[in-house]
Amino acid sequence: MGKIWNHNKIAYGGDYNPEQWPEEVWEEDMRCFKLAGIDIVTLNVFSWASLQKDDEVYDFERLDKIIKLCTENDLKICLATSTGAHPAWMARKYPEILRTDFDGRKHKFGGRHNSCPNSPVYRRYSSLLAYKLSERYKDNKNIIAWHVSNEYGGDCYCENCEKAFRVWLKDRYKTIDEVNKAWNMSFWGHTLYDFDDVVAPSNISEHFPLFGRDRTQFQSISIDYRRFMTESIVDCYKLERDEIRKNTPDIPVTTNLMGFYPVLDYRKFAKEMEFISWDNYPSPHETPAEIAICHELMKGLKSGQSFCLMEQTPSVTNWQPFNKLKRPNEMRLLSYQAVAHGSDSVMFFQMRRSIGACEKYHGAVIDHAGRTDTRVFREITALGDELKKLGDITLGARSKARAAIIYDWENRWGIEYSAGPSILIDYRREVTNYYEVFHKNNIACDLIGPDEDFSKYDLIIAPILYMVKGDMGERLEKYVAEGGVFATTYFSGYVEEHDLVTGAYPGKLKDLLGIWVEESDALPEGEKNSFTRDGKTYEASILLDLIHTEGAEVLSSYNEDFYAGTPMFTVNSFGKGKAYYIGCSSDKEFYKDFVLELCEKADISKELSNYEGLEAVSRYNDSGSEILFLLNHNKSELTVKLHADMTDAINKTEYKKGQEVTFGPRDVMIFSINE
Ligand code: GLA
Ligand code: ZN
Repeated sequence: MGKIWNHNKIAYGGDYNPEQWPEEVWEEDMRCFKLAGIDIVTLNVFSWASLQKDDEVYDFERLDKIIKLCTENDLKICLATSTGAHPAWMARKYPEILRTDFDGRKHKFGGRHNSCPNSPVYRRYSSLLAYKLSERYKDNKNIIAWHVSNEYGGDCYCENCEKAFRVWLKDRYKTIDEVNKAWNMSFWGHTLYDFDDVVAPSNISEHFPLFGRDRTQFQSISIDYRRFMTESIVDCYKLERDEIRKNTPDIPVTTNLMGFYPVLDYRKFAKEMEFISWDNYPSPHETPAEIAICHELMKGLKSGQSFCLMEQTPSVTNWQPFNKLKRPNEMRLLSYQAVAHGSDSVMFFQMRRSIGACEKYHGAVIDHAGRTDTRVFREITALGDELKKLGDITLGARSKARAAIIYDWENRWGIEYSAGPSILIDYRREVTNYYEVFHKNNIACDLIGPDEDFSKYDLIIAPILYMVKGDMGERLEKYVAEGGVFATTYFSGYVEEHDLVTGAYPGKLKDLLGIWVEESDALPEGEKNSFTRDGKTYEASILLDLIHTEGAEVLSSYNEDFYAGTPMFTVNSFGKGKAYYIGCSSDKEFYKDFVLELCEKADISKELSNYEGLEAVSRYNDSGSEILFLLNHNKSELTVKLHADMTDAINKTEYKKGQEVTFGPRDVMIFSINE
């Protein structure tokens, strides 16, 4: 099963930037960290400018001091490579490292995450820095992880990237004719004669200025560019990682991801990362389910291996329109929610607030006042204390979900680049609509990629599976034939991996679903149709498929309009299993009834599902024992009747099956289930 790193408890700490402070302050930091139970710091995230002052001039003196101090204070170290922002001298001397944006504007020095991923200079100097750092600190036993760059993101449309894109295409397609085919370039006479004709798909080439900047005239080009950009950035990560491995082959390497961040295909990153880490910054209106699904998505990147919550704010952010304070107990609640869903750490951005620039009003363990008698510091200290008591029981523990939802970045790109049928189609929203039912009913549900082993699950839902890539259609058929329960929705099965339509919809899923879709009606915002099942009427919205069955059984049809009576909801028996199709978006009541029915069909039972605002999540450790997290998301008390004998994992109090426990507002309890 394996822990993510060499630590014997939930790691507690976060980003620490002492380089922004005079040395006198550092000792005070150490004192505060001890008080708060902090045991890990992420160092060196943005120090490239001071580590390398010119091509040949490196200076590690200050970092040596910081690492020495942290080591003497028994802090574990997650050591960053500093390559998330390049030094000013490098931009001046080598303008090629600067990015060109989507509008074709060459950027100047400034910001961060600002280096062209295909710049040979950037690649050379970033990997060299990773080498030098790992060589210098390889004997330090406190370093338990490497943190490459920081929140990789964005894209570049410069000449270097354009050239590299041509090489990437040649590698993938071999001939320009194959490219023309894959991109359907006979459309509008865009046929290319030579790889040199290829241009990056930006706002000054193939993009559609129609509804914001995100639509494109040639979806296949734009999707391929996203694939290429992801791989370019993954390559930058790999170059640094490989240098690090030469010196410290046993220390795991990661980079911090950002949940549903749409621009990069995180599954490609995951393959190269030893463990997943990610930064959780929910906005105040996000629901517990909307946060939980992000944790599940991140955990699913490595098939359920535990992950590291690399950053969260202890109190407040600075970059949202309204930066609402985390309420009393909320930081603890969100920390344990991350742990419940698979995190082996609780880490913050940041340890001490900066005094200048755009993050000076971002929350920190130590505030501008520098005091330890604040609400936030007290809450941090209390949690630090608890995490010590909790010890190692949750480390490496996994979930045992029997249901899964498929989420695929390339599928999202296909949907979002699409010109038509409706700008209201929202992949992430639809995926969340289904996930919310699992969450509300405390039924474990994994978020998986299209290449996952489907046979691990009894129920798989693939909302808006627009792009059916490679042999996925056959793999889903096999899964259902062997007894799996499968469900998919409107706008599914339309295209293959190049965004080319494969015939009557839902394409490669037609036999499995036993239907075909003749037309789809995209209703404007606010317009609705409806359908009725078992006496209950539900709303039909966004995209309404008009279905013909070819073997499937009709579960419901539309109530209104010229297609009243036309099927929209079907089930097909396929081998030993069943495949459902729901041909529109609907309302919460429908998702609830439908998902619970699917769970029943798949024989998945629910426990502790009758409490409003209670999240119950289990993790199972190496020896198979269950650790149960009960989280009260309500602002009021909640009394829960326990369904088994269990022991409070923090204060060791024993509870009997049937006993009632009262949770305070936003309270959490963690139990070991007694065998
Ligand atoms: C991100 C970054 C940090 C910091 C925080 C602020 O997660 O990784 O460097 O900017 O946001 O919320
Ligand atoms: Zn570039």
